Amino acid sequence: MLELEKVTRLFGGLTALNNVNLIVPANKIVGLIGPNGAGKTTLINNISGLDHPTSGQIRLNGAEIQNAPPHRITRAGIARTYQNIRLFSDMTVLENLLIGQHGRGQATFLDSLVFTPRFRAEERDLHERAAQLLERFNLTHAANLRAGNLPYGDQRRLEMARALATNPKLVLLDEPTAGMNPIETQQLGEQIIRLQEDGLTALVIEHDMSLIHQVCDEVYVLNFGQILAHGTPDEIKRDPVVIEAYLGKDEDHGAA
Ligand SMILES: Nc1ncnc2c1ncn2[C@@H]1O[C@H](COP(=O)(O)OP(=O)(O)OP(=O)(O)O)[C@@H](O)[C@H]1O
Ligand SMILES: [Mg+2]
Repeated sequence: MLELEKVTRLFGGLTALNNVNLIVPANKIVGLIGPNGAGKTTLINNISGLDHPTSGQIRLNGAEIQNAPPHRITRAGIARTYQNIRLFSDMTVLENLLIGQHGRGQATFLDSLVFTPRFRAEERDLHERAAQLLERFNLTHAANLRAGNLPYGDQRRLEMARALATNPKLVLLDEPTAGMNPIETQQLGEQIIRLQEDGLTALVIEHDMSLIHQVCDEVYVLNFGQILAHGTPDEIKRDPVVIEAYLGKDEDHGAA
């Protein structure tokens, strides 16, 4: 579904991504792990059109998208969440979801001025879809609260709900459980598995190895902008190169 070939991103003298080859097959959940500063967010920024590779290709179902702007990437069926939550904090939870769907409809501005049947039908659909997402992410009670006033875990779930509001085929999740407690993390894992059950595909940046085990079919390890390893969660956990470069510190604590 998504294919990165020799993707390199230079920031001045810094090589944030170095010849990255990565494939996200349709309907798989692929994990992306690696130490701080490894280039994980840069990778997602490049797929989502927020940033562009210095060289290399990114293909979505065979079509090159590495130069496309973000709104075209969204239209092509890719949605993302942000490591640092980006909600409209002064708007309500419901409004955040309705805005998330912006651009999906076919009704024109003129339709909206004269309230054509097409406009009204679309409005009804958007509200129905938003209500389903509220229900699914346990946010129905908070629909009319300001997003900025929600507890942190709720904001994280709203961030994911908003990504889904665009009706994507591929979801890029940048540390979706950051700051969550173990129970919230487990529940969010179930939401990610549900994406797969619904036929979606996901690329998930995550530090929590138990979540990676819970949800991922395969994992890529990024280190200093390079792919260090690729395999199933079990293979990655046992890979001596990965343990040395990344997982090592935790293993040492465990063995002590
Ligand atoms: N816009 C930018 N301009 C210059 N350098 C950047 C820019 N964005 C990222 N970098 C640098 O690229 C490297 C990779 O950063 P990135 O945010 O992708 O890492 P990460 O793997 O997401 O780390 P973390 O786990 O801390 O989120 C870092 O050295 C960072 O400082
Ligand atoms: Mg990051």
